[in-house]
Amino acid sequence: MSLDQFLTRLDQLQSDAESAFTSASDAAALEEARVTFLGAKKGQLKDIQKMLGGIEKADKPAAGAKLNAVKSAINAAFEDAQQNLSGGDDSGADPTFDPTLPGTRPSLGHIHPITQTISHLTEIMGRMGFEVAEGPEVEDPWHNFVALNIPEDHPARDPLDNFYLATAKDPSGKSSVSAGDEGSQLLRSQTSTVQIRVMKQVEPPIRIISLGRVYRPDAPDATHFPMFHQMEGLLVDTNVTMANLKTVLRVFANNYLGEDVEIRFRPSFFPFTEPSVEVDFLWNGTWIEFGGAGMIDPNVFAAVGYDPEKVSGFAFGLGVERLCMRRHGITDIRDLYSGDLRFLKQF
Ligand code: PHE
Repeated sequence: MSLDQFLTRLDQLQSDAESAFTSASDAAALEEARVTFLGAKKGQLKDIQKMLGGIEKADKPAAGAKLNAVKSAINAAFEDAQQNLSGGDDSGADPTFDPTLPGTRPSLGHIHPITQTISHLTEIMGRMGFEVAEGPEVEDPWHNFVALNIPEDHPARDPLDNFYLATAKDPSGKSSVSAGDEGSQLLRSQTSTVQIRVMKQVEPPIRIISLGRVYRPDAPDATHFPMFHQMEGLLVDTNVTMANLKTVLRVFANNYLGEDVEIRFRPSFFPFTEPSVEVDFLWNGTWIEFGGAGMIDPNVFAAVGYDPEKVSGFAFGLGVERLCMRRHGITDIRDLYSGDLRFLKQF
């Protein structure tokens, strides 16, 4: 076959294919036309391609270039036709699809109110120079009690008041460690454990907060839940006084609850602080207890290897749920953990 004949056939093929594609009125017709012209086995383009072998060697480059050009033109014509069928007219389109209807908004999740509260509290305390420290939720009695000056016979260590973990039994069937023993483990009942972990690791001055879960076997009601969150604060330096403690808590409360919040200390007792206080905030005309606080007991400093004659400090532990509930007017702590989206979506 001469080069001229080859080129003419290609032109013819291109114009046949283009008109077949544009006149295809539905997807099936278009597919049929595609097989006729572009089919990998018996397509007409394939047939012409085979004739390339019979072209004079000198003419081959020109013939090959034309073949490629025609091939892309036919492919483009096919894609255009396909586009027109699915978009342009609705004869071939899905009859159940109504493009005039409003779209379905994808529902985006958001951060849980307690997690939001934790970030907010962290941000406020961060502005006063408190860094975040973390500790494990599964603790040993040394961190949860002993180092915090809570002696063996203290009621706070009672297995009935804590979630001790079941421990491995020896082959005789007896548990090798029983609740309350050294070596037993429990879900921490307070974030004060983190005070100990931090002081064991670094030297004063210290200014940290630790926010996380604590566990106590309380029956759930509107104000109790067996798991809740605390914000622990610890400041250790020289010449720290209760005035510093009161100021930090007042500044915190003013930032979180509002400028008109007042703070009150009521005498209390915690084994790891002396003196100890309960912390109340006056908010909307009522005094509400938010947690405990006090000056670090010298026995705690001794337990972590600090010299109680040289350093002093304060600590506090506030209930995160309580803060969050006050701020948002939530009346039942169980709502926070029911997983009910109608409730959670409000925050
Ligand atoms: N850990 C105490 C509690 O859970 C609160 C507290 C923290 C008291 C720090 C004093 C100092 O009740």
